[in-house]
Amino acid sequence: MEFNVKSGNPEKQRTACLIIGVSQPRKLSRAGKLIDKMSDGFLSTIIRRGDMDGRLGQTRVLHNVAGTLADRVLLVGCGKEKDLNEQSYLKVLDSLSKALENIGAMEAYSYLTDINIKGRDIHWKIIQTVMRMEKNRYNFDQLKSKKNEAPRGIRKLVMNVPSRRDLNKGEQAIQQGIAISSGVSLAKDLGNLPGNICTPTYLAEQAIRLGKTFPSISVVILEESDMKKLEMGSLLSVAAGSRQPPKLISMEYHGGPADQKPIVLVGKGVTFDSGGISIKPGAAMDEMKYDMCGAAAVLGTLSAVAEMQLPINVVGIIPATENLPDGMATKPGDIVTSMSGLSIEILNTDAEGRLILCDALTYAEKFDPDVVIDIATLTGACIIALGRHPSAVLGNHSPLVNDLIGSGKKIEDKLWELPLWEEYQEQLKSNFADLANIGGRDGGAITAACFLANFTKKYKWAHLDIAGTAWISGENKGSTGRPVPLLTQYILDRINP
Ligand code: BES
Ligand code: MN
Ligand code: ZN
Repeated sequence: MEFNVKSGNPEKQRTACLIIGVSQPRKLSRAGKLIDKMSDGFLSTIIRRGDMDGRLGQTRVLHNVAGTLADRVLLVGCGKEKDLNEQSYLKVLDSLSKALENIGAMEAYSYLTDINIKGRDIHWKIIQTVMRMEKNRYNFDQLKSKKNEAPRGIRKLVMNVPSRRDLNKGEQAIQQGIAISSGVSLAKDLGNLPGNICTPTYLAEQAIRLGKTFPSISVVILEESDMKKLEMGSLLSVAAGSRQPPKLISMEYHGGPADQKPIVLVGKGVTFDSGGISIKPGAAMDEMKYDMCGAAAVLGTLSAVAEMQLPINVVGIIPATENLPDGMATKPGDIVTSMSGLSIEILNTDAEGRLILCDALTYAEKFDPDVVIDIATLTGACIIALGRHPSAVLGNHSPLVNDLIGSGKKIEDKLWELPLWEEYQEQLKSNFADLANIGGRDGGAITAACFLANFTKKYKWAHLDIAGTAWISGENKGSTGRPVPLLTQYILDRINP
């Protein structure tokens, strides 16, 4: 879909569809009042008769409104002015996308960007509009023989900005919104693909493809034999029970000066998590195809960064493997030695994410990182602790954690911090090795991060547990593409603090 910004009065716009906000009770927005005046009170009449009272989510199409150059006027209910906030604005955008699907128009001009939302500027409203429209158009039917009906709706959306001085800002917001949306779509596609298609080899191929699309990204794939040479005993122990070869994918995006330390993103890429010998119960086990959403977020973020040609260096590392229970599989009680030299007693083969991440985190040292952020669908305990709205963040450097939280708030892809305290390390003690890979039921999301903290002492590090945010369960099952918006926003904020 095409997006554009313009600045001007609504009655002067020659368009197939003018989009005007109405708030409760029966209150026209500034643009609405102008149209009302030009049409001798036509909009007020509609409102007075009760056909549109401004309730959140309500929409009405009016044809041939006198005094305008528009074929139609679409009224969109915004709810009570005092209740307008980020969440209700997103709901307004959802009802707008719905309404536009059922309209004959090919393009539209929106004045919903004029709506006032406390603490949010025009940049925010435009980027959210772009992302929301793209989100609502997303469709995953590549594996159906009968494709979903082609989404009807507009091809082009023009958004109004308050003055000509805002045009540049608006265009930048569009560009960012488009780049982030295509990163989100890539991440969603990878998440939604089943484990028999999206294997570690498939993820490696996607990385290579990204490198071909963007010459600014160079890609190296390490094979099982390379992992052996690097003594990644922990990562290899997870791959041992699978017939699909594991891959360690590394991607370097060069946009900044050669001597600038990179931001390193490490994404969990378990393309199917059966639990291994500590096998999971059968209910909803299909959802464990999403256990590579951390990896997908790394690929999506790199794609967004490269599309915007951002002047910064970013590295993406993806340990990719299946977690399956065949004859060679790791057994509970097995002890392995990680690349760092720490030995690990594997008390539960279903706590495999930390086992592949710890070696990838040690490998990350090689890039002399400025900061390292790992992203993983790591624990069910995270969902119990926080639900499905924020991702969890824990880290060893509070400015990094706070920056991430700030970027998440900015782009509406939020984080909540959990404590990464020394005290919890007790739970990871092993009778036979340096570390156990599980810490019991209490504080499971925290002890998982504590496990990783043993491998990240040499740099500033934050861990994002996205188990509750990377996909939606139930009837509308599907991948969300989170936290591509957050990670991209963090990188943008590092360039322009
Ligand atoms: N991939 C899962 C975490 C997960 C579970 C994400 C459910 C989303 C929904 C991870 O590998 C796992 O199995 N974790 C175990 C850890 C436990 C054995 C300490 C868990 O959370 O149950
Ligand atoms: Mn598991
Ligand atoms: Zn897992």
